Amino acid sequence: MSRADSSSSSSLPPTAARRVLVPLGERSYEIRIAPGIIADPASALSDLLVRPRLALVADDGVFALHGEALLARLRTAGITVAVHRVPAGDASKSFAELERLVHFLLDAGIARDDLVLAFGGGMVGDLAGLAASLVRRGVGLVQIPTTLLAQVDSSVGGKTAINMPQGKNLVGSFHQPRRVLIDPGVLASLPARERRAGIAEVVKYGLIARADFFVWLEERIEALDELEESALAEAIAVSCETKARIVAADEQEQADTRALLNLGHTFAHALEAATGYDSRRLLHGEAVAFGLVLAADLSERLGHARPGLAGRISGLLARVGLAEGSALRQVFDAPPAAEHLLTLMGQDKKIRRGRLRFVLMRAIGESFVTDAVPREAVAASLDAVLGLTAENGTECR
Ligand code: GLY
Repeated sequence: MSRADSSSSSSLPPTAARRVLVPLGERSYEIRIAPGIIADPASALSDLLVRPRLALVADDGVFALHGEALLARLRTAGITVAVHRVPAGDASKSFAELERLVHFLLDAGIARDDLVLAFGGGMVGDLAGLAASLVRRGVGLVQIPTTLLAQVDSSVGGKTAINMPQGKNLVGSFHQPRRVLIDPGVLASLPARERRAGIAEVVKYGLIARADFFVWLEERIEALDELEESALAEAIAVSCETKARIVAADEQEQADTRALLNLGHTFAHALEAATGYDSRRLLHGEAVAFGLVLAADLSERLGHARPGLAGRISGLLARVGLAEGSALRQVFDAPPAAEHLLTLMGQDKKIRRGRLRFVLMRAIGESFVTDAVPREAVAASLDAVLGLTAENGTECR
């Protein structure tokens, strides 16, 4: 991604009407970002409905908060809605839940040109997206993400997946939605910890390709934590624009472009695996925050970036309580050994020809992919950022 001047003004160009196009030819779609958009779902979807009928697939917890209101509005507009609830939590990204959902969609008579609405966080988006890609070899999908993480990342770009005992997201497909409806207002009902964790993915976009956005975040990051609606809408729009550009350039991750979206994720997945993927201990976004600082430290260590990059990033994240060593000490009874984390990284999906690939940075807003990363340098970064050493660490519980 091209370098942008990180010392330039922090004002961003206005995001016209908060509509972001994901340009994929005939499969192009719009991301509509508006506070209150889920209060009027029927008008946001009417042009996509060939008949007044759809399936709503909702996270149980999200449905309890917003489901009846959404249903009432759809039904008032004359739309017949078949409702399927999925138990909250990542454990629902399973073959068992996928099978249950596929049966439901077939029993509900959902046809290729009907819509499945995925209403919830990343779990529901991934599960419903996969089911929508399989039923009748592909039925219509609309994502209505309700977590910040899903709003800026997993609902956009068409990746779907379930988890396997061998690892996360190992069975899935590419199935682009026909529209994404994002209501920043729903974030108010999220626990503060989950909302903050999502901010790590927002910061990621500044680091990958938008130095101007990173500078804006340096001025405004508390506004996201405080749920200031215009700041949230702006941050979501810029994040989605950045992701849309990357997805359009490399939809199925054939080149290195889409892999840039995994900045910090190789480290993050190892930390999550070290907790046994227990999100009560470490949320994905919390792990990504550590991963961003680790990627920056590694970039400095290998001479790709000037000294100070990791400090600038950790300084920003700390303002919303992310990537702090004290938090890590609460996650692990004893710190995991760097060697243990390095072994866990060996499961990474980005491995090519047996070599682990890392997304690194030359500067804020300028990222690249490389496999030329000595193991000792990674261990040294883990040691420096997480306070581990390869020798004295112990197995995590
Ligand atoms: N979340 C990474 C991607 O969509 O490619």
